[in-house]
Amino acid sequence: MKFATLASALALSVCSVHGWGENGHMTVGFVAMQFLSPKALSFVQTSLGSTYNESLGPAAPWADTVRSEAAFSWSAPFHFVDAEDNPPTSCSVVETRDCASNNCILTAIANYTSRVVSKTLSAEQTQEALKFIDHFIGDIGQPLHVEALEVGGNDITATCNKESTNLHAVNTGMIDTLLEANYGNSVTTWASTLVTRIKTGAYKSLAAGWISCSSPTETLSTKRSIEEDLADIHTRASSATITPLQCPLVWASEANAFDCSFVFSFTKGEDLCTSSYFTGAVPIIETQIAKQGYRLAAWLNVLFDGATNLP
Ligand SMILES: *[C@@H]1O[C@H](CO)[C@@H](O)[C@H](O)[C@H]1NC(C)=O
Ligand SMILES: *[C@@H]1O[C@H](CO)[C@@H](O)[C@H](O)[C@H]1NC(C)=O
Repeated sequence: MKFATLASALALSVCSVHGWGENGHMTVGFVAMQFLSPKALSFVQTSLGSTYNESLGPAAPWADTVRSEAAFSWSAPFHFVDAEDNPPTSCSVVETRDCASNNCILTAIANYTSRVVSKTLSAEQTQEALKFIDHFIGDIGQPLHVEALEVGGNDITATCNKESTNLHAVNTGMIDTLLEANYGNSVTTWASTLVTRIKTGAYKSLAAGWISCSSPTETLSTKRSIEEDLADIHTRASSATITPLQCPLVWASEANAFDCSFVFSFTKGEDLCTSSYFTGAVPIIETQIAKQGYRLAAWLNVLFDGATNLP
């Protein structure tokens, strides 16, 4: 979402509108916890400590909590990439076009990935890097965090459960509606349902594809593994320049494609949290949350155990 004008920037901070919302982000973190390999798990537990119950779940919303504070206002652009595409006609994320200032979620993930394995940072800085990764790997799977149109949907009026809001915020409303309807209002119940789908259910056959990052610029058969993407991460960690990684770009492009296939496909006045739009959105939301949780685990497993260690 682009902070096009001061007015919209103010509106954003007042409404404190964040795509997945606290519940979506916590679920990404709780899903990831179930797939961490030994050293990654031990790193996460030690780094987050009792403040976050040693878990990526409670730590995931932190970055949204602080972004509206003056001390962290610099981190606000890290939550998204303003794809200057043209949905629903054409969708794309082009790093040189959309992140030219190197000040977007793509470079932020590269930055905090280097920082989280750096041996020269304090425990607090390392924890901060982990919390940013925990959050941004969630955000990058959210279609309106990889879209410039109408400030990532913030400037599009929409209705959720009879209340007037905006398209960006509807996502949080849909998640709350889903949690209440299907999961007894419990993010841990939702997360364990998604984990079961990955291990033995509807997502089982898809999961391997989620962690191979096929290049959006090369032929689709060209796969790059997370291991390959992070192969020189320790060298990167000691370098001052931030080199983009490929997997986050692939994930952003994949989420951005939903801006053409679904996100803007509602009719004016439709209640997005009760209509067929809701029914259509739920499978996308659930898959994106499960996928980003799985990818977050894979990312940390490669960083700390050297391999994704996932089926
Ligand atoms: C903290 O984590 C433990 C183990 O994962 C869990 O059983 C417990 O319910 C969690 N506590 C809170 C307050 O979330
Ligand atoms: C990298 O992270 C540090 C620490 O939070 C921050 O000061 C810096 O601006 C970040 N750089 C980029 C390019 O994201």
